[in-house]
Amino acid sequence: DGAVAANATTRNIAERMEELGKQAVVFWGSQSGTGEAFASRLVRELGQRFRLEAMAADLSDFDPETIALIPTSKVAIFILSTYGEGDPSDNAAQFWEWATKLKETPLQQLKYAAFGLGNSNYQYYNRVVDLVDESLTRAGASMLLPVGRADDALGATEEDFLTWKNELYNFCRLELHLEEQAAKYEPAIEAYHDESLDIIDLFHGEPVSHKTVNGESSIGAVKILRSYELFNNSTTRNCLHMDVDLSEHPEWTYKTGDHLAIWPVNPDQEVERLIRAFGLTESRDTPLCFRSLDSAVSIPVPSPTTITALFRYYVEICAAVSRETVASLLEFAPSESAKKFLADLYGSKEAYSAFLAREHVTLGKLLEMAAGPDQVWSKVPLSYLVETMPRTRPRYYSVSSSSVLSPRVAAVTALVSNTELSGETPIPGLTTNYLLALSDSLNKDTRAHPQGFSYELEGPSKALEGAKIFAQLRRSTFKLPTLASTPLIMAAAGTGIAPFRAFIAERLRLKAMGRKIGEMVLFFGCRHTDEDYIYQAELEQMEKDSEGKLRIVTAFSRVSGQKKKYVQDKMQDLGSDVSRLLAEDATLYICGRASMAREIGKTVSALVGKDKEWTQSQAQDWAASMKRGRKWQEDVWG
Ligand code: 2AM
Repeated sequence: DGAVAANATTRNIAERMEELGKQAVVFWGSQSGTGEAFASRLVRELGQRFRLEAMAADLSDFDPETIALIPTSKVAIFILSTYGEGDPSDNAAQFWEWATKLKETPLQQLKYAAFGLGNSNYQYYNRVVDLVDESLTRAGASMLLPVGRADDALGATEEDFLTWKNELYNFCRLELHLEEQAAKYEPAIEAYHDESLDIIDLFHGEPVSHKTVNGESSIGAVKILRSYELFNNSTTRNCLHMDVDLSEHPEWTYKTGDHLAIWPVNPDQEVERLIRAFGLTESRDTPLCFRSLDSAVSIPVPSPTTITALFRYYVEICAAVSRETVASLLEFAPSESAKKFLADLYGSKEAYSAFLAREHVTLGKLLEMAAGPDQVWSKVPLSYLVETMPRTRPRYYSVSSSSVLSPRVAAVTALVSNTELSGETPIPGLTTNYLLALSDSLNKDTRAHPQGFSYELEGPSKALEGAKIFAQLRRSTFKLPTLASTPLIMAAAGTGIAPFRAFIAERLRLKAMGRKIGEMVLFFGCRHTDEDYIYQAELEQMEKDSEGKLRIVTAFSRVSGQKKKYVQDKMQDLGSDVSRLLAEDATLYICGRASMAREIGKTVSALVGKDKEWTQSQAQDWAASMKRGRKWQEDVWG
């Protein structure tokens, strides 16, 4: 059985490579799946283009010390993401420990290349790959080509990867003298129908956990108890408050500031579009099995399953198509004109990014655009889809309720995001549009879905019947100070308010119990005074109840006739209060988009620096030490 064979029998990477006859290993350290997908793409291509036998490796599957044993005739490639405060992914934790403590010369036989995924809106842009590179070199390893870095802030992750990959391929040609051939799809996985299987033995769409990480609950179905709209008078934008019932999972517990992972369901329209485009209508519910043809390749989705379940639950069919996917589809085009359409699109990097900036193009849509709505792409192998489409990942939401006040019901605050593009179709938020449909169904609201989507809301085998979602709790480090008397400075825009709603409620509960609580200032930013100021009534009530302990400072960015104000502008205006509170040992919390967190960080550092007459680098050191001491905490996203 492929899945079993792919389970590493040893934690020694050198041994494993020897066992499998691999010349190169592509290690990946990634949370969201992008790095992992890049690693498997690279492995496939090295094999197809250069006949270089490579394997992808989850960094947590091997003992890092054994990297030193990889012989000099072989190559190690590292694909490493950086998160938050310059941290590695969970699966790279042990490797990171090892790599950052490397002494001189233990790695003299290692040849390596490295690519990092990061976001320049974060202060520690690509810190993980940079530090790993530095330590490997210091330990005597030889770097084969300059480190590549992807910057997600510029939306350029994919193209940055292609650029670096081309450099790696040049190296393969010119330095390793590998012969090259036209890349052609060669399956590493076999897909076949097995009608003898019983329906009940199939995976119908239940999420399966690939690996449990410390601090995660199991994955389970949880009921939405109630859901309501948080925006006022808005016909175009939606923001949901959802109360999620944890009582069916007695072992699930959360702490204020934790996250809830939610698994999306793909909209029917996109599922049907793909089934039609690939001509799979007849076989959509026939038991479908996958088997690995290469013992180093594991099956990314549950098997056996069905095509319907695969497209609805297990792969990301709604993501924008990458330029390389366009290229890889060329060989399967059903007509010359479709082939020309794809070739033209692939041909220019600039034209392709302009195309994506105009329209949200999913795989299904691309196939229709290339060949028309009636042509069937019957040459596309099912194995190709499973190997190339990213598997569905959950999305994380900061819990907006307090675990002290509401231990068995966790609240989620979700902006239904539909990013406008210059063309006709926006980029619809996958999970939030699904949640909106669920919310409408729960509230018996019969309006049409704003994006025209419909969903299978009862889930696989009715597992989600009765307004349920597949979810999982995840621990975070975004936590209230131990002492209730510590002052708090909280800064948020939009749904970044979520954890602060919980922080404030929890503090006020302590106050009601007679505890002395510290001063709290909440800086909150949104567009308008009367539309997206979410939880306004509740927050104002809490401000009253706090008897002067809570002060709310608002910044509105789109009030007509008024100057645009952002959270950091208000913090600047009230600079002396911010400085005073910090001097009184306040903890600073920031929640929202990374670009906002960066601006706020700069403002606060400059404020304090000015007071203390520090140089810029002294102010930066101060910020870094605040973060190390957990006096400055951030919960931010892309
Ligand atoms: P906008 O009107 O310019 O979009 C929630 O999205 C709020 O955050 C909006 O008021 C939005 O303003 C604001 N916002 C956008 N970018 C920001 C940034 N870099 N720093 C602070 N607030 C920002």
